[in-house]
Amino acid sequence: MRRKLVAANWKMNGDKATVESLLSEFVQNVDGQSIDAVVFPPALYVGQVADKLAGSGIEFGTQNVHHADKGAFTGELSLSMVKEFGCRYVLVGHSERRELFGEDDALVADKVAAALAADVTPMLCVGETLEQREQGVTEKVVGGQIQAVLDKVGIAAFERIVIAYEPVWAIGTGKTATPEQAQEVHAFIRKQLAGSDESVARKCRLLYGGSVKAANAQELFKQPDIDGGLVGGASLLADEFIAICQAAK
Ligand code: G3H
Repeated sequence: MRRKLVAANWKMNGDKATVESLLSEFVQNVDGQSIDAVVFPPALYVGQVADKLAGSGIEFGTQNVHHADKGAFTGELSLSMVKEFGCRYVLVGHSERRELFGEDDALVADKVAAALAADVTPMLCVGETLEQREQGVTEKVVGGQIQAVLDKVGIAAFERIVIAYEPVWAIGTGKTATPEQAQEVHAFIRKQLAGSDESVARKCRLLYGGSVKAANAQELFKQPDIDGGLVGGASLLADEFIAICQAAK
C-alpha cells in the first residue's frame, strides 16, 4: 500500500560537524530501501548533504523555496537551484513559515504548484493552533488550508504531494497529539481528498508531525491513515531519528 515516509526537519540548527556526524549515523542505520527517508537541512548545507547521502537511498530537500524561477528576490532560492543540488523534496507552508514569515494559503498554493511543475515533491504542512482546536474549528482550518491548494493544482496533483498534518500546539512542545487525535484529523483529510477522487485519496501520503519521538512513533504509525512522520527536535538526535525510522518499517 502506501510506503511509509519519515522526514527530518532540522530547522535552523546544526553546523558542518553536526551534518557530518548525524548523516554518518543515518547512512549506516536508516534503511532507505524499506521506507522513504528525507532530510531537510538548513539550505546552506544542501551541497554537503548531497555528497554525504549519495548512493544511500536517503533523500533530501530544502525547508522553503520561492515559487518564481529567478529574479530580484533577495534571500530566496528557486526550484531550479534546489534541483541542481539534487533535492527531490521541498517543505511548503510549515507553520513556522506561516506564522513567523506571513505565508498565507495563496502563497503556499503557488509554491506547491511551482514545485510540482519542477517535478520536486512538495511536502505540504497544515495544522491548527491550540486556540483553533479549543474553538472546535480544527477541520475548518485544516480543510481550508488543503482546499486552497486543491483549488490551485487540482486533485490529480495530490498523488505527487505529501501532506504533513502538524498541530501547531504539538510542535516543539513535547505535547504530542494522541494517536487517536492525529488519526481523526488524518481520516478527515483523506475523506476531504476522497470527496474529489477516491483513488488519489488512497494514494496520498499523510504524515504526522509534532513532538514525534522514538517512544511514540510506533503507536502513531500504526494508525490506518498515518503514513509516517515529519520530525523536528528528535531528528537532531541520531539514535532517536533512527529508532523513529525503524518504527515506520
Ligand atoms: O517539521 C517538524 C515539526 O515542526 C515538528 O517539530 O518534532 O520538534 O515538534 P518537533
